[in-house]
Amino acid sequence: MIVLGLETSCDETGLALYDSEVGLRAQVLYSQIKLHAEYGGVVPELASRDHVRKLIPLMNQLLEESKIQKSEIDAIAYTRGPGLMGALMTGALFGRTLAFALNKPAIGVHHMEGHMLAPLLSETPPEFPFVALLVSGGHTQLMAAHGIGQYELLGESIDDAAGEAFDKVAKMMGLAYPGGPNVSKLALQGSATAFDFPRPMLHQGLDFSFSGLKTAVSIQLKKVAGQNREADIAASFQEALVDTLVKKSVKALKQTGLKRLVIAGGVSANSRLRERLEADLAKIKATVYYAEPALCTDNGAMIAFAGYQRLKAGQHDGLSVTTTPRWPMTELSNPEQG
Ligand code: KG4
Ligand code: ZN
Repeated sequence: MIVLGLETSCDETGLALYDSEVGLRAQVLYSQIKLHAEYGGVVPELASRDHVRKLIPLMNQLLEESKIQKSEIDAIAYTRGPGLMGALMTGALFGRTLAFALNKPAIGVHHMEGHMLAPLLSETPPEFPFVALLVSGGHTQLMAAHGIGQYELLGESIDDAAGEAFDKVAKMMGLAYPGGPNVSKLALQGSATAFDFPRPMLHQGLDFSFSGLKTAVSIQLKKVAGQNREADIAASFQEALVDTLVKKSVKALKQTGLKRLVIAGGVSANSRLRERLEADLAKIKATVYYAEPALCTDNGAMIAFAGYQRLKAGQHDGLSVTTTPRWPMTELSNPEQG
């Protein structure tokens, strides 16, 4: 089965073709980063308009690069939510309409399920069950994943998401959006122990809170203004955030008795997080799994793959176009049970 995947939930237009026989056939990605840069964050209306401009040219590029004809596409998967309403609508309408024209099934996919399943596309995919640490620009969650659509929420951020904290700290330092990669690059030149930033809610269950950490960074930045300490602050901030994510993940593994941790979402591309998890999980004989960096941030491949998991069980949507900007992952169904 060849599935076309469409991702338009935020500021990336991603299209991919997943072939259940051979794996990922082709993918194209257009990032709107430059478009939003001068505003320091994503402007929803500009994002929607740009997706509309890019979808057709990217689709043509994808078909050309893959040498696959439109008529060979068996089904279409698009991101139904969570995300920006207008941005979601563009991909959903495009996907649903194309599926109608081709007389093929379409399915709306949960963006975070897409992220979570992306590591299954790697050479050494994890098996269910596993604990998933989902860390993106909008979400920070720990899930117990027992199978496709069988997700149990173990903990989540009560305020800022991990990626959001990176982005806000970057903004305070005058670094460009998206902040995660820029903060972690600057952190390489600093000391992770220079400042002892708080690790909020470390000993309280599996929920997270990052807004206090962000405030602590803001106060410290003002205190050392003009002293050229930005790299030390970046490194110490990253360490506090990573330390919290690692300790809570270890706690979740111990609590569930599971030995596999899957990390997914933009922040899972962070090399310090990967390094710390490799080291700390080895101590408890657990293994960490992640996708290649290009599949950690938003992309069409993860949507094609997650869609395929449901389509192969016969699940698909009707003719109406539904987007769900707020959508808890625990509401998803097990496709085997309809
Ligand atoms: O999953 P994603 O591409 O989009 C959402 O679904 O939100 O995640 C984007 C987030 C941004 O906040 C970005 O700063 C962060 O992931 N990010 C990183 C890194 N690469 C992306 N954060 C830390 N280190 C990175 N290397
Ligand atoms: Zn995402």
